[in-house]
Amino acid sequence: MHIVIVLPTYNERESVGSTIDGIQKVLPQIKNHTFDILVVDDNSPDGTAEVIKQYIKKYPNIYLLSGQKKGLGAAYVRGFKHAMTKMSADVVFEMDADGQHDPTYLPKFMAEIDNGYDYVIGARYIPGGSVPKEWGIHRKIVSYFGSIFARVVLWMPQLTDFTTGYRATRVKGVLDSVDLDHLLSYKFAYKIHILAQFIEKGAKIKEIPLKFGLREKQQSKASLNTFFESLRVVLILRYRMSQRFIKVCVVGAIGASLQFSGYFILKEIFGSFRGVGVFGIVISEKGIFNAVATEVGIAANFAINNIWTFKDSKISGFFTVIKKFPQFNFFVLGSLVIQAVVLEVGTRITGIDTNFFDFVLISTGILIGLIYNYLVYKKVIWKTKK
Ligand code: GDD
Ligand code: MN
Repeated sequence: MHIVIVLPTYNERESVGSTIDGIQKVLPQIKNHTFDILVVDDNSPDGTAEVIKQYIKKYPNIYLLSGQKKGLGAAYVRGFKHAMTKMSADVVFEMDADGQHDPTYLPKFMAEIDNGYDYVIGARYIPGGSVPKEWGIHRKIVSYFGSIFARVVLWMPQLTDFTTGYRATRVKGVLDSVDLDHLLSYKFAYKIHILAQFIEKGAKIKEIPLKFGLREKQQSKASLNTFFESLRVVLILRYRMSQRFIKVCVVGAIGASLQFSGYFILKEIFGSFRGVGVFGIVISEKGIFNAVATEVGIAANFAINNIWTFKDSKISGFFTVIKKFPQFNFFVLGSLVIQAVVLEVGTRITGIDTNFFDFVLISTGILIGLIYNYLVYKKVIWKTKK
């Protein structure tokens, strides 16, 4: 495969040279792959580009992409696009040019790519990984708890490091399938949004332990803003991921109110109706009114979810609807069963029989029922083909 190592630089004239030398020294150890280094420099005032031009004369596999400074994420997006379209990259690396990322990790990343992983992350908080012990306690705390926060809020328990800057990404089906033009951040937090998109695409992700080195020259370009920026990205992603669930809840409430009002309207209109006997079984008028009202609620639920919550995978066409609607009815019954079971079992186990506790149990049943509905809608009824 052809690998492009993207090295972003802003005022790295003192470190970029030794970073490149370090990479070149390691590359011969990696078999069956070819490597290019793409330096993405944002017209660094310290003349980093001059150093790169010297290295281009020295090595045949170094390229320089210059541009305006718009943030680290913008630099990487520019580099990724160039690597994909102009350099036919099969895998791209993200790596700092300031000496903090040890090039001797490159073979370890490539070994995992060879194992079939799509996205390999250098993680600092798993056994074998670390951050510089010289870091101040503040930076350590922010970095560590920042990742725990992202892990819990985004609910991605399989990952431990959300902001590390040393990564390898497969292009085909992964990097080339995500939207790089509408990222929530083009500064340091770009990587959280990219990661979330990879997960959504079902990319195979692997964390390998990384000892993050100490910056020897110059200063970090990350700042307190970086922290708030990451927080913002995590919260927006959470909101987007929850949107469907919130819509399912709203539609559920609409369906339930239709059922209620439908019941009383029917009772009002057909007040004189007195139930029927079917094969000797008497069905009361209440049972019939409620059954009709429930079905109206379910039909509305189906219709509104179809044109709103799941509009991106809308069910259309007479025959598909005829097939899907009974299926939908069947699964909705499940949520009614869940509610009944929670109430029944909850009361029996605890032996508590108060109105307040009934309220708690019914609410719990509704919540579990909604989660069940949400999952069934997503995985069965409105399943989008992969
Ligand atoms: N082209 C370009 N444009 N390069 C940039 C820019 C920019 O706006 N901002 C930073 N860089 C380059 C730096 O020159 C360096 O090579 C690399 O990106 C990382 O920047 P640092 O300033 O060294 O960041 P850091 O060490 O604080 O952050 C590292 O660790 C973080 C996690 O703790 C990076 O690896 C981050 O990506 C990572 O999130
Ligand atoms: Mn750095």
